[in-house]
Order: sequence, then C-alpha cells, then structure tokens
Amino acid sequence: MTDPKRYFVRSYGCQMNVYDAERMEELLGDAGMTRAATQDDADVVVLNTCHIREKAAEKVYSEIGRIKKAAAERGWKPVVAVAGCVAQAEGEEIARRAPDVGVIVGPQAYHRLPQMVERAASGQRSVDTDLPTLEKFKALGQRRRAAPSSFLTIQEGCDKFCTYCVVPYTRGAEVSRDADTVLEEAHRLAEAGARELVLLGQNVNAYRDARGTGFADLIRRVADVPGISRIRYTTSHPADMTDELISAHGEIEALMPYLHLPVQSGSDRVLKAMNRSHSAESYVETIEALRRVRPDMAISGDFIVGFPGETDAEFEATLEIVRRTGYAQAYSFKYSPRPGTPAATMGDQIAEEVKTERLARLQALLNEQQLAFNEGTRGVTCDVLAERNGRRPGQLLGKSPWLQSVHFSADGASVGDIVEVRIDTAGPNSLSGLRTDRKAA
Ligand code: 5AD
Ligand code: SF4
Repeated sequence: MTDPKRYFVRSYGCQMNVYDAERMEELLGDAGMTRAATQDDADVVVLNTCHIREKAAEKVYSEIGRIKKAAAERGWKPVVAVAGCVAQAEGEEIARRAPDVGVIVGPQAYHRLPQMVERAASGQRSVDTDLPTLEKFKALGQRRRAAPSSFLTIQEGCDKFCTYCVVPYTRGAEVSRDADTVLEEAHRLAEAGARELVLLGQNVNAYRDARGTGFADLIRRVADVPGISRIRYTTSHPADMTDELISAHGEIEALMPYLHLPVQSGSDRVLKAMNRSHSAESYVETIEALRRVRPDMAISGDFIVGFPGETDAEFEATLEIVRRTGYAQAYSFKYSPRPGTPAATMGDQIAEEVKTERLARLQALLNEQQLAFNEGTRGVTCDVLAERNGRRPGQLLGKSPWLQSVHFSADGASVGDIVEVRIDTAGPNSLSGLRTDRKAA
C-alpha cells in the first residue's frame, strides 16, 4: 500500500491525549485523508497511548496484536502508528516487541505524523520521540468545528517529579504556551462553536508564560472572549493553588464551581515519600479557602492506594481526608510501579491483595459521596450546557456547573445551548430534569 486514505485514531488515558488525538485527526485530514468508520476499515490506525499505569501500557500491545490479526484475516496491511506516552517511554521496546509498527511518535512530535505515515506506507519505519516542547503547536491547523465544550492545551509537561509518576519523563519539562497564542486559539474555538473551554495542562495551574502572564490573568482574558460562557481547567497541583487563583474563583463568573484537585494520600509521611510538596492539612485549607469564596465548589480528586510502605493507619488517613473534603467525583488507583521512577525501587512494596482491599474500601466511600453530592442537587435549578443528543429522541445530554451529566427534554433547545434545568432525579452517574426557562408547547 503506498497511498493511505482512511485513518482511525484511538486514544487512551488523560484529556491531554484526547486533545492530541483531535489534533492528529485534523493533521491527517489536512493531508487529504478521511476518517474511517471503524478501526478495521482504516489504512492507518493510530494508537494514542497512555503510560501512567502498567495496565494502560499493556493494553497497547494487546491492541496491536488484535489489529494485526483482524487485518491478516482480511488480507489487509494497515499502517499502525503508536503515538503518545508509551511511544515516548518505550519506543525501542515497541520496535522490538511489535516489528510491524510503522510509526512511533511521542506526544511532542506528532505534528510530523502525516509525513511519517507516508514513509511507513512505503515500507520505512519512522521514529520520533524528541521533546521539542512547543514546536508542535506551531504546526497545528485551524479548527473548523468545535464541540460546545472544547479542550485547549495551554501548558505541557511537569517539573514536580512525584516519585510514582512517569509524566515528567514522557511529557518532558513544564512549558506554558504564550498567552496571546492561547487567546487566538480561544477566539477561533469560540467562532467554531465552543461555549465552554477546558484549559488543559499536566500542571495547568503552574501556568506562566515567558512574558509573565500568570494563570489567573489568563483565565480572566479567556473569560472576555465573546461566546465563551464557561471555563474549566485540569489538572491542578495543590501546591500551585495560589491566593490569586483561589480569589479568581470568587470573581470570575465563567469559572465553573468544580475543581479537580488530586491529593493522592491523606498521610503526611506518604505524601512526603511521594514528593508531593503539600500536606494533608494544607490541602484541606486550600479546599476551605475555595469554599469561602465559592460556597458551592465541587471537588474531585485522584488517589493512590498501596504506595510503598503504606500502613493500615496511613491508609485510614486517606479515608479521613476523603471524609473531611467531601468529593463530588474521584479517580482512585492501586499503586503501579513504573520503570525508571524512584518509587518503583523503594522497599516494602505492598501486596496486591492489600491494594485490592484498600481500593475497594476507598471506592465504596467515594461512591457514597458522589451519590450524596448528586442527590444534594435534586430540586436545584441550574444552567446546563447541552453537549450532545441524548439516547432518546427529543432528549439532550449536557453538563451542570458541577460537571454532572444531565439528561433533559430538548423542548426547542439544541446542542450548544445553555438552558435552565430543574434537577428532578439523581443517580450515581447522572441527573435528569426539566427545562424551566421555557413552557412546554
Ligand atoms: N500508580 C498508580 N496511579 C498513578 N497515577 C500516576 N502514576 C501512578 C502510578 N504509578 C495516578 C495519580 C495521578 C493520576 C493521573 O494517575 O493519581 O493523579
Ligand atoms: Fe505526575 Fe506529580 Fe507531575 Fe502530576 S504533579 S504529572 S502526578 S509528577
């Protein structure tokens, strides 16, 4: 095959990968290719991979195997490209374990993807795992259509070096895009239909561009972009929640009352061993300060159980910080040793059964809190941004200010509208309600 026509991009992991995958689709589209209906119909399959936990990385190899098998059965030979953080961290291992992979491209180098695909189609493997920082953004094309809630990457990389984490190695050092360039992209996204912008970065609240624009300033400027009614940001580090940023939550109406603020553990000893540079108490104080300026602030978090050396009492401290914070949503994981990170070689690794048992207890508490939070919004009238059509005809699916999924009857509204809805029912994962800003016909 010398002329690949149809691509399929499959993305794993975090929202930065979702953003990157969208950009890859645009680049391949600009190179004259079209999106295949399914992965099995594609001439080019891009796996945009995640390396954060072992399971995430192993999925890549099984997916490559599956693609090869499905293609062989049909006498097909697609170009398989491995992009993202597994490509960055294990490029050579992929080349060895999966010789059929034609393109290996890291998260900072994918702006060259179309040329790499072309070379691979003519039988030459291409590998690019440079970390040239902001280079790729310069090469990215225009966005023609934007979802009502669109991602905008403003910062990449991480200098924090939490001892369990591969991100500083796979995504490189912290860099912030220039505020003017970010604003330009925000304007373009608004013109293309975005109503909400989710500012993305591995450490988004550490944002500071070369000319000294800080994160709170940037949020203010984005809030002034015509058409943008909502702003969110993710992922944040507790140590970078400055007073200025906390105040911004009380001042900027477009800034939604929801914050994903990972804490990882409630034990100060474990936090120190994780190199987290915050304590359990300072985290709780940050949440309290946020709730003073924005009383309806919903908090989401990340947790790791079974970090090396974690005792029963230290795990109990994690349950305690969960009780003190009261989460609206959360993501929790068993500690997974990642090659090359300091924690992977620490003594006293925790047995799998202990991790499993701790995770189950933590998740039971977090699920309980999530349901309680959702039930707490029953009877509340709030703005909902309609993001897509619901499963039933005439129904729309949108997001509340607190990032809950809300089903409601469209009653004249369409995707992209912000409407007022009274929440009537609340489940663990979604809500439903009725529009209150329009009488039913
Ligand atoms: N093991 C388990 N969880 C991890 N995370 C990051 N690295 C690891 C690891 N080695 C989790 C953290 C982080 C989230 C994105 O993934 O909770 O906040
Ligand atoms: Fe990883 Fe810590 Fe950086 Fe987050 S702050 S990306 S957990 S090293």
